Amino acid sequence: MSYDLILRNCRLLRSPDVTETADVALSGKKIAAIAPRIEAPGETEYDVGGNLVSPPFVESHIHLDSALTAGEPRPNESGTLFEGISIWEERKKSLTVEDVKKRAIATLKLQAQQGILFVRTHADVSESNLIALRGLLEVREAVKDWMTLQVVAFPQDGIYSRPENELLLEKAIEMGADVVGGIPHYEFTREDGVKSVHRTFELAEKYDRLIDIHCDEIDDEQSRFLEVVVACAVRSGLGARVTASHTTAFASYPNAYALKLMGLLGRSRINFIANPLINITLQGRTDTYPKRRGITRVKELWKNGSNVSFGHDCIRDPWYGLGTGNMLDVAHMAVHVCQMTGLSEIDACYDMVTGNGAKTLSVENDYGIEVGKTANLIVLNVGNRYEAIRMRSPVRQVFSRGKLLAETKPVQSIFYDG
Ligand code: FE2
Repeated sequence: MSYDLILRNCRLLRSPDVTETADVALSGKKIAAIAPRIEAPGETEYDVGGNLVSPPFVESHIHLDSALTAGEPRPNESGTLFEGISIWEERKKSLTVEDVKKRAIATLKLQAQQGILFVRTHADVSESNLIALRGLLEVREAVKDWMTLQVVAFPQDGIYSRPENELLLEKAIEMGADVVGGIPHYEFTREDGVKSVHRTFELAEKYDRLIDIHCDEIDDEQSRFLEVVVACAVRSGLGARVTASHTTAFASYPNAYALKLMGLLGRSRINFIANPLINITLQGRTDTYPKRRGITRVKELWKNGSNVSFGHDCIRDPWYGLGTGNMLDVAHMAVHVCQMTGLSEIDACYDMVTGNGAKTLSVENDYGIEVGKTANLIVLNVGNRYEAIRMRSPVRQVFSRGKLLAETKPVQSIFYDG
């Protein structure tokens, strides 16, 4: 017998805490065998030289509809979230389905080349023609042979800021969005914000969808919609199907209140997504000194047993003119800004851009390097998670659905002594 493809001499990351050296054989789209030495030949074989072979990166929070629009129609000079929202309001007047598709696919290719094979994107559903959503639903279909894409119906301008927004959100779900979004801290009033969270849950239950709410993305310690999300998750029993994105205000809550919230979180099993590159950039803008870091309590949430993953959030858009799509850049920033520099903490930050993201997206059943699972895996240029983040290792090879999808040749520098 023979296999379609064999990767030999892999330092295999099978589950977060188990690494071993093994060969991995692929047949068709599946992982067919894993053993210290596979005797049967493969039609194609690669010796990966003891480098880390990992499940692919998961981008759990990105806005593909606005990606690659930085500077259009003008740059964000203040660098704030709210100037970003007003620039996007101008830019989205000229959106077309083709424009969205072209930029989204270009971004997904950029991501795939860097080892990302699962992406959750938000689609702004606050404009009357739902162009961003239409474009991203078409993209989901167009890339499905090499990338798993989830689309969130995201009411960027609020569910209750205009009479039609609530209907647009429901229409977006009916059209096929995978996830229901919300933005309670951006609604006009606290009451509207609470109502919007309840509406998000109602729609998710009605249409059997996941939930991912932009929650408390502000430095205001009075922004307390996370408690509403958690209470709804506990009462509805939706638990792990619910995600709170950003929750930057959590970093500004007094400890007495944060502790109370931590207790409740243990019961809710909701997921958290932090966006370290964006949070450190957008938050703290109204502070003088001391200046807040503006990122949620990642380390404490992780220690408390919550599932935390990281997103890139923006790639060259009105909120953030930088961004490469590289999840190791995101994890590297998290190590610094969350002060997670201990070895187990660095490993945890790697998990937050891989397996934890898969849990957030509810795709964990067919994620990971196990016999019988779909053959999605990446080969790095280093031997472990710590080195992957330290070196922001290139991803040498990306295998998607059993096939080689992308390759990167690591740059070589030469030092000429004397
Ligand atoms: Fe976002």
